[in-house]
Amino acid sequence: MDITILGIESSCDDTSIAIVQNRKILANVTANQKIHAEYGGVVPELASRAHQQNIVPTLDAALKKAGITLNELSAVAFTSGPGLLGSLLVGTSFAKSLSLALDIPLIEVNHMQAHILAHLIEDPRQANPEFPFLCLTVSGGHTQIVQVNSPYDMKLLGSTIDDAAGEAFDKAGKIMGLPYPAGPEIDRRAKLGNPGAFEFAKPRMPELQFSFSGLKTSILYFLQKQMKENPDFIKENLNDLCASIQNSIVGILMDKLELASQQYGINRIAIAGGVSANSGLRDALEERKSSLNWELFLPSFEYTTDNGAMIAISGYYQYQKQNFADLSVVAAARKPL
Ligand code: KG4
Ligand code: ZN
Repeated sequence: MDITILGIESSCDDTSIAIVQNRKILANVTANQKIHAEYGGVVPELASRAHQQNIVPTLDAALKKAGITLNELSAVAFTSGPGLLGSLLVGTSFAKSLSLALDIPLIEVNHMQAHILAHLIEDPRQANPEFPFLCLTVSGGHTQIVQVNSPYDMKLLGSTIDDAAGEAFDKAGKIMGLPYPAGPEIDRRAKLGNPGAFEFAKPRMPELQFSFSGLKTSILYFLQKQMKENPDFIKENLNDLCASIQNSIVGILMDKLELASQQYGINRIAIAGGVSANSGLRDALEERKSSLNWELFLPSFEYTTDNGAMIAISGYYQYQKQNFADLSVVAAARKPL
């Protein structure tokens, strides 16, 4: 019998709903929220309101795209955290209502595990890793290296003590006057600049811990000094600045990933989260592929940023174990992996 799972993602500023059937995605529909760009970051209150507006039309579009009706669903899965509480509540309440109305199981999904499990989606555009593998999850909210032994067994090996990698891109972009989120624009400009043009302080963190706030301060002080001498410094050097900043962030990520691979003797390497779309990171990984004999798993772009498909595939695996939530389940802004 087919297992058909609805996945609802609403942890940050994307309302995304997907339908998975036996590991294949039938639909993955996302409503982005443009409203935050003018504020230079996600405004939680506005995000929750936009989720409320978007969630029903997004569900309708997903069902239409998949060509199925609500009655054909086996279960409904939703993100219960981590994320913005007001945003999570919209998806959580919606999922509970659907589960109750349709009399189908409710499945709670951890957003960070879901980013990783997106690698198990059956899609001709991406390969599925064998276990165990290491996953570098890099997004606007998180930076983690995780050892994945199975869909049900993941171990956090290292994470950031302050800013996330995506935040480092976004904050550096903000200092340079780029619109939010700056990651994609820095990536685009980096291709036109010299990554060795400027050097910024590298954090000295023990073991597999990350830190990005020092880099932000180093960029800020450097630019303040340069702008005093030449007010057009940023404008005149924007591409080189982007290339150098990207080079620094990617360098920090790669050093730790290499260390994790050595320490744990695992050379199957996957990446996940919004920053995994970064071309500098992908190039650096490709280099290690030949020099360190890594087997690389790069997710399809559709499954890198926040998406309902990763929630639906996580729901699929929980369904196999009959791991269901009851209606008293609550969303939480913080949630361990
Ligand atoms: O996973 P995601 O969509 O949402 C979170 O859960 O945070 O990640 C969004 C983050 C933002 O910080 C954005 O600037 C960054 O991913 N990002 C990128 C690129 N595309 C998105 N950063 C660098 N290069 C990119 N190409
Ligand atoms: Zn995310």
